[in-house]
Amino acid sequence: MLMSEPAIILGIESSCDETAAAVVAGGRTVLSSIIASQHELHEEYQGVVPEIASRAHAERILPVVRSAVAQAGITLGDVRAVAVGNRPGLIGSLLVGVAAAKSLAWSLGVPLVGVDHVHAHLYAGLLEGNGEAAPPTASHSAGTSHAGRPLAAGDLFPALGLVVSGGHTSLFAMASATEIDRLGGTIDDAIGEAYDKVASMLGLPYPGGPVVDKLAQTGNAAAFEFPMSSLSRESLDFSFSGLKTAVKYAAFGVPRKPEPRKAPLPTVEIPPLTSERIADLCAAFQDAATGTIIRKVRRALEQNRGVRSIIVGGGVSANSLLRARLIELGDARAVRVVLPGLSVCLDNAAMIAGLGHAILVSRSWQGDPLSLAAFPASSL
Ligand code: KG4
Ligand code: ZN
Repeated sequence: MLMSEPAIILGIESSCDETAAAVVAGGRTVLSSIIASQHELHEEYQGVVPEIASRAHAERILPVVRSAVAQAGITLGDVRAVAVGNRPGLIGSLLVGVAAAKSLAWSLGVPLVGVDHVHAHLYAGLLEGNGEAAPPTASHSAGTSHAGRPLAAGDLFPALGLVVSGGHTSLFAMASATEIDRLGGTIDDAIGEAYDKVASMLGLPYPGGPVVDKLAQTGNAAAFEFPMSSLSRESLDFSFSGLKTAVKYAAFGVPRKPEPRKAPLPTVEIPPLTSERIADLCAAFQDAATGTIIRKVRRALEQNRGVRSIIVGGGVSANSLLRARLIELGDARAVRVVLPGLSVCLDNAAMIAGLGHAILVSRSWQGDPLSLAAFPASSL
C-alpha cells in the first residue's frame, strides 16, 4: 500500500453479545462491517448469559474477521493497524476479541490499539455517511449538516456527546473526537436496560428496545403518567429504575402488604393486559424515557455554552421518538445533531476501527503494547 493512500484499519468488537469485525479506510470510509449477533442464543434467558456469550465469540471471531477482510476486497497484508474494543464489557467476551486482535497485530507486524467501547459509540455518527452504506435520505443523517454540507470537524466541536445504550447512559463534553470528559451518567439502570426490562415484564421478546419502540407508535402516551427523574437541580446524571417500577405497578398493580391489626386493604382491580393496554404502556414509557434524556441534554446545553453539535451514539439512538426529539431540540437551539445511521447505532466494529484510527493519528501511530488488558469498566 502506498503511504499516501488512506490507512486501512481492522476493527474488532466482542464486548457483549455481538461478534463484529470491520475494515475502515482513513478513519471514515467503511469498507466492510460484519456483525454476528447472538440474540437467538440469549433470547430464552431475556438477557445476555456471559458464559454462552464468550463461547459463541470464540467460535465466531475468526470467520467474522475473514468475512470482513474478504468483503472489503483487501488482504490482511493491507491492514495498517488493528483496533479492538478492550473496555468496558463482559470480561470473558472482551478477552476473545483482545486475544484475536493481539495475534493479528503481532503476526502482521502492525500497531495494536485498545479502544473504549462507550467512546467508540460517539464515533459511529462521524463515519462517512454516518456509517450507513446506503445514500442518506434524511437531512440529519449520513454526515450532513442541517444545510446538507459535508461533515467537517471544525463545525462540530466543542460538542456534547450522548451515549444511550443497553449498558450505558452518559453525557460527555467533547473537545474533539478523541478528547472527551464525562459530565454525567446513570446511577442505576441504563436506558436500554430499562427498555429491555419493561419489554420482558410485558412478555415481549428480547432485545426489547426495537419492539417497545414499534408498539409505542401505535399506543396512547397519555394513557399513563410516568415519572421523569431529574435528580438534583444541576445534575447531569440519569435514573431509570423508578420509571421501570412505575410501569410494573401500572401493568400489574402495586404490591400491598396487609398490616396486622388494620382492616384488610381493598383490592384494586387491574384491567387485563390486552395488546391495546401493552401498546399504551409502551407509548407512555417511551415518552417518559426519551423525555428524561431530552431534559438532561437541554440542561447540559445550558451548562456548556458554545457547544456546536450534539453527537449521539449507542443502541437506543435508533429509537424513533428520541431521534425526532433530538432533531427538534437541535433545531430550536441552532445546534447540529449528529445521529448514527441505523446500521451503526448498535454494537459494531466500524466505530472501533474509526476511533482506533483517530487515536493512532493523535499518537503518531504509537500503538499499545501486546500486553494490552481487557477491563470490565469504562475508563471514562
Ligand atoms: O449499543 P448496544 O448495541 O449495546 C450496548 O453497548 O449496550 O445497545 C443495545 C440496546 C438494547 O438495550 C436494545 O433494546 C436497545 O439498544 N435498542 C433500542 C432500540 N434499538 C435497540 N432501544 C429503544 N429503541 C430502539 N429502537
Ligand atoms: Zn454498545
